[in-house]
Amino acid sequence: METVSNLLEAIDDVGRDAARGGYSRPVFSTAELDLRSWFEEQATRRGLAVETDRNGVLWGWWDSATGNGRRGALVTGSHLDSVPGGGAFDGPLGVASALAAVDILRERGVEPQRSLAVAVFPEEEGSRFGVACLGSRLLTGAIDADKARNLKDPDGTTFAEAAQARGLNPQHLGRDEEALGRIGDFVELHVEQGRGLIDLDSPVAVGTSIIGHGRWKLTITGQGNHAGTTLMEDRADPMVAAAQVILAIRKTAAATADARATVGRVQPIPGGTNVIASRVELWIDIRHPDDATTAALVESIHGQAQKAAAFEGCSASLTQESVSGTVTFDAELQRQLSLAMPGAPGLPTGAGHDAGILAGYVPSAMLYVRNPTGVSHSPEEHVEPDDADHGATVLADVLKRLL
Ligand code: GLV
Ligand code: MN
Ligand code: MN
Ligand code: MN
Repeated sequence: METVSNLLEAIDDVGRDAARGGYSRPVFSTAELDLRSWFEEQATRRGLAVETDRNGVLWGWWDSATGNGRRGALVTGSHLDSVPGGGAFDGPLGVASALAAVDILRERGVEPQRSLAVAVFPEEEGSRFGVACLGSRLLTGAIDADKARNLKDPDGTTFAEAAQARGLNPQHLGRDEEALGRIGDFVELHVEQGRGLIDLDSPVAVGTSIIGHGRWKLTITGQGNHAGTTLMEDRADPMVAAAQVILAIRKTAAATADARATVGRVQPIPGGTNVIASRVELWIDIRHPDDATTAALVESIHGQAQKAAAFEGCSASLTQESVSGTVTFDAELQRQLSLAMPGAPGLPTGAGHDAGILAGYVPSAMLYVRNPTGVSHSPEEHVEPDDADHGATVLADVLKRLL
C-alpha cells in the first residue's frame, strides 16, 4: 500500500514555479491537466470508475456491490489547482489521502453498503478566474452559469473558452441535478492552514465551521501621465490612492475583532516604471465570522477608498466578485468524525473550501491535518509523512463508519 507521501511524490515536479517558488497550478493549465491525468490513473489503478461531469469535476466511483446505485453516495476528495506560488498540500493532500483511504478500506475487506466516490473540484482557489470554489459553485448552482461563463482570466480568456478548450460544453455548465443528487454526504480532508493544530498539539482536528469570506475588486481611476514632466502637484496618481487604501484596510481590519482583510494582488495600468498609472485595480479579501460585520467592513472600506481617491484627484469604484457566508458543518458528520478520531479537537477555519459550498446543499464536513509550519498559500506549507498517513487512516475510519 502506498503512503500518502509516496502518492504525493509522484506529482512533486508538476507545476513547480521557479520564479515564485512552490507550485503554480491554475485550473486547466498544463500542470493542472497533468494532475488530473495522475488522478485518473491512480483512480483507475484502484478500480474506481472515472468520469468528468459537465462542470469539469472529476469523479472516481467505487460502486456498492449492493446495487443501490449512486444516489446518496458518500463522497470525499478535494482539489488539485493551487494559488500562485502555493504549497504542495493545499488540495492534493485531500485527494491523495482519499486514494490512500480507498486502499485502507480495500485492505480491511470493507464492502461498501453505499457507493463511495473520490471527487476533484476545479478552480477551488479562484486563482485563474477570480471566483474561489468555482467547480462546486457551478455544480450546486451557487453561481449563475452565465456569470461563470463570462469570468475572465488575466489574459482575457473567458471561463467558457477555457472550459471548451478542455472538452467541456460551455452551454452545459451550471447546476447539475444529477451529479448533485448523487451526493449523500461529503467529507473533505485538508491540510490545516494556520497554526491551529500546532497550538492544540494534535495531528488532526474535526472541522467545525468556515468563517464568512469574500472578494472585492477596487478600481481607482486617475490620470495616466509622464513620470518626468508631470509636476508633483499636478498629479492624479491612483497608485498613491491605492497605497492609502491598503493602509486603511489594514487599520480597519485590525480594529475589528476576528476580522481579516488582505490586499494580495494589485495591478497598475498600464504598468510602466516611467508612467503614472491611469488606473489601479486591486483585489480585497475580507473575512469575518459574522456576516453583518463583513458587510459593515466592506462598506467602511469602500467609503475610505472613495475618500482617499478623491484626495488624490481620482475616483474609486468597488465591485463584489464573490461572497460566502459563515458555514457550520453538519452536526452528525462532525459527531462521526469525533468518533473516528477520539480526542481530536474541533477547529474553525478562516480558509474557504468546496465543503463550505457543498454544505449549503448536502451534509458536509471536514477534517484537518497538522501543518507544522503554520504557513499556507506559500511554499513553506508542510505536512509530516506520519501525520499524513494518520490523516488517511482516520479518513478511512470515518468513511467506514459512514459506508
Ligand atoms: C482558499 O484556500 C481560500 O481560503 O482563499
Ligand atoms: Mn484548499
Ligand atoms: Mn487554498
Ligand atoms: Mn481553499
